[in-house]
Amino acid sequence: MAPVGVYDSGFGGLTVLRELRRALPELDYAYLGDSGRAPYGGRDVDTILDFAEQCVERLFGEGCRTVVVACHTVSCVALRHLQHRYGDAGRRVLGVTIPAAEAAVAQTRGHIGFLGTARTVASHTFRTEVHKLAPGVTVSEVAAPLLAPLVEEAWEDTDIARLAVQRYLVKFHGIDTLVLGCTHYPLLEHAFRELASKDLTVLNPAPGVAARFAVWRERHPGLAPVGSGRLRILSSGDTARFAASAARFLGETPPSVEHIAERGGRLAPCAEGAEPLGQVVR
Ligand code: DGL
Repeated sequence: MAPVGVYDSGFGGLTVLRELRRALPELDYAYLGDSGRAPYGGRDVDTILDFAEQCVERLFGEGCRTVVVACHTVSCVALRHLQHRYGDAGRRVLGVTIPAAEAAVAQTRGHIGFLGTARTVASHTFRTEVHKLAPGVTVSEVAAPLLAPLVEEAWEDTDIARLAVQRYLVKFHGIDTLVLGCTHYPLLEHAFRELASKDLTVLNPAPGVAARFAVWRERHPGLAPVGSGRLRILSSGDTARFAASAARFLGETPPSVEHIAERGGRLAPCAEGAEPLGQVVR
């Protein structure tokens, strides 16, 4: 059966997959984490488009008919491009930005704060989507490049993480709703709730993404058919590291991680360990 493809720059999109599997456990999923080339958040647009094409093509190559771009950076920068290039009657590419904007607009009393990677914030895509829904709402966007690496290090429960969260929180003034606009940040949700003022709503967009996907799927059952709840995980990075980190993001023990690597401009299945260590001269 065709699995639903879920794509992220690394581990973070497992927080979105977690909610998708909670909402629709009967579907099969194929998760692709491009962890060998993450983080994406500081990269230029052309590189992100290139990586995103390779990853989406790999997932379609694995038999997916629908790919959910869980990564906010890719969704903000490259979703339109991916939809134009790959979307047709038999294949779809969906993103997280519109569901995030919808959830925030439903929640806010007039001023939304948005935290994301530098590239996500520079795109202003989230603000654009909010203003399509609610032109009168104010959106303040702040880049938080330190947070994803802290989560990758599993430091979300440390003083250094709380200090970083505090430093980013003080950049906002007058917001009533704060959107965690990066797939890593849900692991810092408790730190945000602890350190933010009590009347600030901290919003993880992932449950809203899953709810929106479930509604979409009712109209397109053939593009995301019922399976047996099977999960595959593909990673372009160190599979042992991926496996060790995955449960923190996914909330369940992951299956064994399959390795993929770029060969001739395409991501292909590839045995691990072929990468050179030390000096390389070409
Ligand atoms: N997954 C990315 C996102 O949601 C964050 C990590 C990165 O910079 O690659 O924006």
